[in-house]
Amino acid sequence: MTSTNEIRRSFLDYFGSNGHEVVPSAPLVPYNDPTLMFTNAGMVPFKNVFTGLETRAQPRATSSQKCVRAGGKHNDLDNVGYTARHHTFFEMLGNFSFGDYFKEQAITHAWTLLTREWGLPKDKLLVTVYHTDDEAFGLWQKIAGLSDDRIIRIATKDNFWAMGDDGPCGPCSEIFYDHGPSIWGGPPGSADEDGDRFIEIWNLVFMQFEQTAGEITGNLPKPSIDTGMGLERIAAVLQGEHDNYDIDTFRALIAASENLTGVKADDAHRASHRVIADHLRSSSFLLADGVLPSNEGRGYVLRRIMRRAMRHAHLLGAKEPLMHRLVPSLITEMGAAYPELGRARALIEEVLEREETRFRQTLANGLKLLDEATDGMDEGAKLPGETAFRLYDTYGFPYDLTEDALRARGISVDRDGFDAAMAQQKAAARAAWKGSGQTADSEVWFDIAERVGATEFTGYTATTGEAQVVALVKDGKEVTEANAGDAVTVITNQTPFYGESGGQQGDTGTITGPGLVLAVGDTQKPLGKLHAHQGTVETGTIRVGDLVRLAIDTARRDALRANHSATHLLHQALRNRLGQHVMQKGSLVAGERLRFDFSQPTALSAEDIAVIEAEVNAQIRGNSPVVTRLMTPDDAIEAGAMALFGEKYGDEVRVLSMGGSSDATYSVELCGGTHVRALGDIGVFRIVSESAVSSGVRRIEALTGEAARQWLVGREDALKHTAGLLRTTPEEVETRVAALIEERRKLERELAEAKKALALGGGGASPADADEEIGGIKFSGQVLEGLDPKELRGLLDQAKQRLGSGVAAVVAVNEGKASIAAAVTDDLVGKVSAVDLVRAGVAALGGKGGGGRPDMAQGGGPDGSKAAEAIAAAKAVLAG
Ligand code: ALA
Repeated sequence: MTSTNEIRRSFLDYFGSNGHEVVPSAPLVPYNDPTLMFTNAGMVPFKNVFTGLETRAQPRATSSQKCVRAGGKHNDLDNVGYTARHHTFFEMLGNFSFGDYFKEQAITHAWTLLTREWGLPKDKLLVTVYHTDDEAFGLWQKIAGLSDDRIIRIATKDNFWAMGDDGPCGPCSEIFYDHGPSIWGGPPGSADEDGDRFIEIWNLVFMQFEQTAGEITGNLPKPSIDTGMGLERIAAVLQGEHDNYDIDTFRALIAASENLTGVKADDAHRASHRVIADHLRSSSFLLADGVLPSNEGRGYVLRRIMRRAMRHAHLLGAKEPLMHRLVPSLITEMGAAYPELGRARALIEEVLEREETRFRQTLANGLKLLDEATDGMDEGAKLPGETAFRLYDTYGFPYDLTEDALRARGISVDRDGFDAAMAQQKAAARAAWKGSGQTADSEVWFDIAERVGATEFTGYTATTGEAQVVALVKDGKEVTEANAGDAVTVITNQTPFYGESGGQQGDTGTITGPGLVLAVGDTQKPLGKLHAHQGTVETGTIRVGDLVRLAIDTARRDALRANHSATHLLHQALRNRLGQHVMQKGSLVAGERLRFDFSQPTALSAEDIAVIEAEVNAQIRGNSPVVTRLMTPDDAIEAGAMALFGEKYGDEVRVLSMGGSSDATYSVELCGGTHVRALGDIGVFRIVSESAVSSGVRRIEALTGEAARQWLVGREDALKHTAGLLRTTPEEVETRVAALIEERRKLERELAEAKKALALGGGGASPADADEEIGGIKFSGQVLEGLDPKELRGLLDQAKQRLGSGVAAVVAVNEGKASIAAAVTDDLVGKVSAVDLVRAGVAALGGKGGGGRPDMAQGGGPDGSKAAEAIAAAKAVLAG
């Protein structure tokens, strides 16, 4: 028997040796077509080559392409398990000509490979052509020598192939294999064509046209060839089987599932084992290509596939999660052809096990509810839509899982009722939101979110991507287009732009398309699920429905990543140094800096800051990879992740682990933000300020990477400049400044002495010269310009000594104002009061008050020009 792996290889070898480049399978998430949920045909990765947007060095290619047909156009999910040939995942073998050969050579290659290389008997094969394609009809006669009755003209869409509503398409010719009269069915186009005897094995598409929204809009630049042969189907033919699930690969997977469940794949259990084998393949390949289960978009299709398989594992009586234990068998079968499976093994197993563990918690209750609700229902009955909605809402039963569960009993589900219940729940959510006092203009987001669902965020791994514009908002209202100069908010179906949340600012960047350039200045996240690109159209027009290219400013995003990861490290370092009371109270992750507010009663010391900064930098130098895992919030908190109190988390949270060693992670936090790949990417971390925000809350501002480097360079430059001013080197600045301070102190002292000396008699006159006698009492009166008022007392003491018995008054004038002090020798206390003299002086200086003791008093006034009058006023008091 030829194995499936050998058949794949022989197909690629045949076309490889006939001038085709052997191209590895592209990922299941198409990078070049946002309208397509999954890669669903071999030609998808080459779409832009067919339309002439891209060129390839080689005009011929061949591949074995991973395909998923579940969700969107070509959805086979509902039938899988119950038919011989439906799969959610399959491989499509194909050969492609990009404007090189056309119909004749395509038919020749197909016929040669099938009948010569693989030796299929000619009389087992028959073909179809599009009803008007006389050329293809003639070529089949000529090349294969088929009689006219074995070349069937078909007028329907079956012989016209299109990837989706948009893209290249053309008439096709299909090759059928006749499994023999023991199986019921007629040739294509006959009344019995739906039977299983004649099976399509290869589709040759003569690519000629391009279509938009289902309408042919033009010719492709050059007629081309796209072919597709399901590997599982041809393997069945070459292995002498009729049923795809009987080929070697599926037998091995089903045997593994039989083994682990202990249940044979007999009539009653065949469908369940097939569902499990098929869904194991699609789930594992989708996980390996970066899709994770979620409640929106691609992630929801994956979740539906996984849960459908998990219900069947439950039906087989599996007592514990099953799917992840089948992964090794899948890798044995397919890991050599698809090494990505082995690389992602840990992730695949972990996500499958977690999803199954979690789903099993509600599965049994949900099935019980379903049993009760359908008790007594007969074949042909309908389950009420609300019940299906309750199963969806409370037990996580996707709609199609409920349908699948009732299928065997011939009970259907009321889809309209389900949709109505869903709409009602959304209306209630809107009413509750309105009641919370939100502004009416944000209601536009509700309308959009309801219509288009959440934006799929691709920015954890991608920085650019294609997307379809699903809504435009201008001046608070939805519009269908925006033109150059317009400020507009753009909503797309998917985006690499992070919408501001969790403290991390939104991305900036560009949205471009044919003739269009739109600069995005910010991305917000209204309702927590729409990524709203706010920007201005610079050139061209943007319209709803357009396919556009999104590119974020990667330098800014790198800085945001560094600042976000550094924030996690800082949080941990603060707790290590200050204690477990440290809790995040606010955070801002911007491109140029980070700010972190946290609970802490007292200011941090310089040593605290130094230790914290050093610890964060040590983690950065450790350069360990940053690990992200998806968990339920409860599991994450149990695993020790720091969660923010009061923060609302969804069903699934991202858990970021970074730093430390393999057995003791430094920081574990729940976080939806974007982070560095390894800590070394942060570069360097520098705290630039520590301050109080409010009572009990401190704030740290810090820089990382280039911003930190520039800050340090700025400091260094300032130091060098200062050294230049001081005519010394940076190393000597401290000693030099200390010496200068000391010198300045000395000079100040000397200056004060000099001023005093000057005041006391500069110019040769001695204060004694001014002494006089008033009313029999000796009096000394002096006015001193520029004297420090602190010197007044000293001067008065000197005057008292000189007078022996008497009264002294001094006025010091400084910057236009004056201070006055007076003293009385002890023998005269009781006769004369220093306070009276001062008060009279103060009044003369335009001031009020003045005071002290009878032997010594002091005061001041604003008018220094009245100093002489103040002395005169004092003398007048003395004169009585
Ligand atoms: N693209 C063609 C198909 O999927 C070959 O059938």
